[in-house]
Amino acid sequence: MSFEVESVRARFPQRRIEWYEVLGSTMTIAGELAREGAPSGTVVGADEQTAGMGRLGRKWDSQPESGLYVSIILRLMVQGSSLPLTMLALGLASKESIEALADISPDLRWPNDLLIAGHKCAGILALWEHDAIIAGIGINVSQTLFPANLETPATSLLLRGAKVRREDLLIQLLESIDRWTEMLTRHPEEILRRFAEASSYAKGRRVRVDQPGRTLEGVTCGLDPSGFLLVREDNGAQTTILAGGVRPA
Ligand code: BTN
Repeated sequence: MSFEVESVRARFPQRRIEWYEVLGSTMTIAGELAREGAPSGTVVGADEQTAGMGRLGRKWDSQPESGLYVSIILRLMVQGSSLPLTMLALGLASKESIEALADISPDLRWPNDLLIAGHKCAGILALWEHDAIIAGIGINVSQTLFPANLETPATSLLLRGAKVRREDLLIQLLESIDRWTEMLTRHPEEILRRFAEASSYAKGRRVRVDQPGRTLEGVTCGLDPSGFLLVREDNGAQTTILAGGVRPA
């Protein structure tokens, strides 16, 4: 089903929403618009991406009309170092929007994965572009097949029994992002608390993390004030995870 962008525009009449049938990546177009000065809240979405980007240089499978693929320009009153916290706020917003439309409560895996029973149903990529953050969000809505050999097995809302319209999901997502980014700018410590509450990975979870030059294994022990994950390694050392893929050990 083609995306009825007008129904989303009608709910957000002040907002610039660009929709494409097919493009390389919404991140590229949103980045260009941000450099041209497009306002906060501008949305770039597509029915299909031919070069969807994931974290850590991975590809994001973006089959036609079956996922929500959007990038949102955010101009927030946050410091340059707030990207990890912003990722956590976007994860909470994405989780809330799925919960509002489906009888599903995804887990959050630091920093950016939404999982249903260990299968990934959404991912978030957040990048600075000049003076704006580009929040790229991909949610698997109605896929029934995924590429083989994914780092984490994938699922979609449909495969978990929920029929959700992409338009409704985008409306809900934009409302949730407004709320959670407002909280981020006013009470950043609350984002840490709420993420730690919502994520089974934040504390007491045995994980393996790929780091430059080595893979470490240990038990998660919370988040630091910037939103980075803390892991207690088996030799007792506490390591701050700045980036890298976190997997259950
Ligand atoms: C990840 O989990 O690795 C992050 C995935 C982010 C995918 C979204 S889809 C919309 C936006 N455009 C992209 O090319 N990537 C993000």
